Amino acid sequence: MGDMPDVYEQKLPKPEKLNAMTDESLHAAFAGESQAAEKYLVFSAAAEDEGLPHIARLFRAISFAETRHARNHLRVMGGINKTADNLLVAFQGESFEIDEMYPAYQEIARSQKNQQAFRSMTYSLKAERDHKRMYAEAREAALRGKDIADQPVSVCLICGHTVIGDLPDNCPVCAAAKEYYRTFE
Ligand code: FE2
Ligand code: FE2
Ligand code: FE2
Repeated sequence: MGDMPDVYEQKLPKPEKLNAMTDESLHAAFAGESQAAEKYLVFSAAAEDEGLPHIARLFRAISFAETRHARNHLRVMGGINKTADNLLVAFQGESFEIDEMYPAYQEIARSQKNQQAFRSMTYSLKAERDHKRMYAEAREAALRGKDIADQPVSVCLICGHTVIGDLPDNCPVCAAAKEYYRTFE
């Protein structure tokens, strides 16, 4: 929303005091719209691969609409705040995934011998630990009114391993070569 003129911001739905069931409804709708947006982007890429660029465009555009819906819901829920607060929310989300969600999910996948599911969860769990630490450090800076250091952030295309600064020769999580990282300058 950063490059959107202020006039558009003013037209968007605003935070308001929510009753419990409305709040729950918006949480569920936010999750659904977010998932749809991501799914449509993946479907768009698949359509491109099949030589169907106009269907790919349709998926991309509707994905963008779902993103708008998701963001509107998040705004109304009061989910967009100052960066130090946003970083705390992000930190808590990563912590939940590390401490509760993935360990429990992995037990299920292990007991059912779904090895690829276990592997996919392991990739996530390992990256979330880095994300948690990065958010904690960023929050300390934000609370002091500072930004973090100007360093590139890179993500492994295979497993999502996330690293600030220099790349390893191989991903420590999945062993992919450094060419498999996407760097955010
Ligand atoms: Fe939608
Ligand atoms: Fe994460
Ligand atoms: Fe990796």
